[in-house]
Amino acid sequence: MRKHICLLEGDGIGPEIITQGVAAIKAAASRFGHELDFEKALIGGAAIDASGEPLPAQTIEKCRRADAVFLGAVGGPKWDAHSHDKRPEKGLLGIRKALGLYANLRPALLMPELAGACLLKPEIAAAGIDLVVVRELTGDVYFGEPRGIKEHGGERVGLNSMVYTEGEVRRIARTAFELARSRRRRVCSVDKSNVLETSRLWREVVVDEHKNYIDVELAHLYVDNAAMQLVRAPSQFDVILTGNLFGDILSDEAAVITGSLGMLPSASTGASGPGLFEPVHGSAPDIAGQDKANPLAAILSGAMLLRLGLGMPEAADLTERAVRAVLAEGCRTADIMEPGKTLLGCVAMGQKVVECICKL
Ligand code: IPM
Ligand code: MG
Repeated sequence: MRKHICLLEGDGIGPEIITQGVAAIKAAASRFGHELDFEKALIGGAAIDASGEPLPAQTIEKCRRADAVFLGAVGGPKWDAHSHDKRPEKGLLGIRKALGLYANLRPALLMPELAGACLLKPEIAAAGIDLVVVRELTGDVYFGEPRGIKEHGGERVGLNSMVYTEGEVRRIARTAFELARSRRRRVCSVDKSNVLETSRLWREVVVDEHKNYIDVELAHLYVDNAAMQLVRAPSQFDVILTGNLFGDILSDEAAVITGSLGMLPSASTGASGPGLFEPVHGSAPDIAGQDKANPLAAILSGAMLLRLGLGMPEAADLTERAVRAVLAEGCRTADIMEPGKTLLGCVAMGQKVVECICKL
């Protein structure tokens, strides 16, 4: 197979980690006779600097033409003072919306090789963490109208609208149930239906859609309780199904308790067209350009790109096995460094993974 990938390196450590991600997936794909070609496009702060817009029209076109999109990270203090519409984050939100990427999969996995890094008590870590947050990505307060800051009664009022249509809830519920079938067959839907009408509709639709997936166990938690259960007993979760805002928060929480935010990949997919694959961590401007970033989340996002975006499961498996092997060998970047292990920079870590891909 020959596939075309659009690279959105973005800001901060984005370019460094994407370089390593590209090297890894190229090597893995070629081991199975596939060829990948790449085209760069601008997004976020880099795009603002070049064109004044966080998401130039040309970037959307290049993404639409690609078989998959591989993104680094956006944002940084340089653009913090910009108005709401000219912030780097707007580029990320815009490309999600433009490509219709409603399903965001964020796995949080405590790899045995990194169990020592887990932030929770050893007895909790021993029970394991292997869950996926299925976050709805194109609705909710992120995109709901009306929104804005308005004058009312002599003072300013900030307004955002939490909106979900039945169809939007149903399609993301399906994504979660389908995914659960390939895992431990358990879905926990997270909402705030004791307070919010949006959540009441959410729960009703999830319960209704579940009738088509009776082989999957369905539970419900309010979001406050879910946040608490995630640190108290994360091993109880398999697939967490939730909306855009709650998913944003819970996925960061799930990621950080593994102790290695720099390790976690994500995938965003829609009904058709290219998916977008990006590490969960941000642009880390404080360490940008210093060869200190951990490229493994980008490389693992590359594995998700191969599997879900390009239909190359063997190359995806190989990439993931190579990452595990390199960790087992004792290689570490600064963020996951432990006594007795070997400290590597971003480039050296990427090279190690590629070497491993070529010989595994
Ligand atoms: C994420 C990020 C984004 C979000 C920001 C950068 C717009 O936090 O991908 O989780 O809120 O979705
Ligand atoms: Mg977030």
